[in-house]
Amino acid sequence: MDFFFARFHKFFFERDGKCVRFGRCEFDNRRERALHRYASAIVLSMALIAPTHGFGGDKELGETRYNASCKNCHGKAGKGAASYPKVSGNPVPYTTEKLRAYREGIKQGANSALMIMMAKPLTDEEIDNLAAYLEDAT
Ligand code: HEC
Repeated sequence: MDFFFARFHKFFFERDGKCVRFGRCEFDNRRERALHRYASAIVLSMALIAPTHGFGGDKELGETRYNASCKNCHGKAGKGAASYPKVSGNPVPYTTEKLRAYREGIKQGANSALMIMMAKPLTDEEIDNLAAYLEDAT
């Protein structure tokens, strides 16, 4: 592992034995080198985590958005209310597809007009956040 970080560090942070990130420094000091390796390890983990978490929506932002614009019809945590369908408990792709379709004005059920109006202002990011929140909202 240490070897890997050392190579990673060399690739991203060093040019001709000199550090080129996080300010100027020369590696005649072991502690300083270790510190920069540590920093590079953090950068590396973020790069590895981003694809698995970065593309998924943010549940908290989704919840805020939901409570602001959707709760009045679909009820608390998307559980559904009267004639408004339950929207929680569906896989993320199901919800994102529905919301994108409504946003494009494509009818889904008998009462799509309302939803088309509601989905129009949603951004891609908001749709991802809402879907992430609704997947297992309780
Ligand atoms: C004015 C009431 C109203 C509001 C506000 C509203 N919806 Fe809806 N929603 C509906 C109705 C009615 C339907 C069923 C539409 C149809 O027949 O296609 C629906 C359908 C849906 C569906 C598809 C359900 C399924 O499985 O077919 C999703 C997902 C959804 N709404 C999410 C949302 C989200 C997210 C928001 C907030 C941005 C929202 N809705 C705001 C009334 C509303």
